Amino acid sequence: MRLHLNENTAGCSPAVLDALRALGRVDAGLYPDYDAAITAVARHFEVPPDHVLLTNGLDEGILASIGAAFRVRDGAPPETVGVAPAFDMYEVCTTALGGRMRIVPLNRDFDLDVDAVAAAVTPATRIVFLTNPHNPSGRSYELAPLRTLARRIAPVLLFVDEAYADFSGESLIDRQTLEDLPTLIVGRTFSKSYGLAGLRAGTVVASPATLDPIRRVVPPYSLNAWAAAALPAAIADRAYRDWYCAQAAESRSILLDTCSRLGLRTWPSSANFMLVNVGPDVSRVVASLARLGVRVRDRSPEHGCAGCIRITAGLVDETRHAAAALEEVLCAAP
Ligand SMILES: Cc1ncc(COP(=O)(O)O)c(C=O)c1O
Repeated sequence: MRLHLNENTAGCSPAVLDALRALGRVDAGLYPDYDAAITAVARHFEVPPDHVLLTNGLDEGILASIGAAFRVRDGAPPETVGVAPAFDMYEVCTTALGGRMRIVPLNRDFDLDVDAVAAAVTPATRIVFLTNPHNPSGRSYELAPLRTLARRIAPVLLFVDEAYADFSGESLIDRQTLEDLPTLIVGRTFSKSYGLAGLRAGTVVASPATLDPIRRVVPPYSLNAWAAAALPAAIADRAYRDWYCAQAAESRSILLDTCSRLGLRTWPSSANFMLVNVGPDVSRVVASLARLGVRVRDRSPEHGCAGCIRITAGLVDETRHAAAALEEVLCAAP
């Protein structure tokens, strides 16, 4: 069981496979057309199509946003700001593109201190990265302080990565917010609740003036034809996504029950994963779970995560199995 990368453990909707099966030799031979996919994504988020940029996974959206923001150089190396722990691609992409990231350490509860984030912004800062719900803790942050932060740090961009927002049901994407906050960029992915990680489809949503420079650094045919055909089909099957989000919610409560029974610390998660403190023996726990066929992610080297593993909360049956494996490993003599 792959419970280490927060993938959709059920895969994509059967409707997506039907759409892919309908493609043929000609589709493989032509450069893809994105009209239907852009229309579907824009309708889904209830924004005009010019507020949407499709990317080859949200990873590319992160890379392209930094690339665009770093294009104008004024001597000092450009900077981004982020928190720790966090999704590693913000720092990886910042460094790859010749910048450096200033890190604001979160406390043990992963509370978001917007004053500390704003204070880390320097004249060299181009983008601030936050994730909501937060990865790896799964914590959901209130939207109002994020809106205030965007206003406070402007013209520095605020990139809010909402990779897991389908599970929390909360998003900064609405027309009014994007109009009021032209320096806000919201990242979304179809890898998680929609199960398209293997196809690679993400999007960045922002006001057209903010998206324009990012469009210029994304290659014109970044998504392949299969990903483009999958998107409208995936979005249309709302019932499948809702079913999967419900599975994730039930899985979270199974993990929570098991962890409370075992006396393990967890954090309230609104995403399809849970951070669990299994104690100093974390490497043994990860290795023993792997031997039982359950792969989880060791987050213990990261700031604030000593002793922690992150477990994907996906299909309920799998989660029951994973919870039983965790119990077996923790109750076994070391
Ligand atoms: C917070 C966060 N952002 C972005 C991504 C990348 O998403 P994608 O698969 O669309 O590149 C992930 C993947 O795990 C993630 O956890």
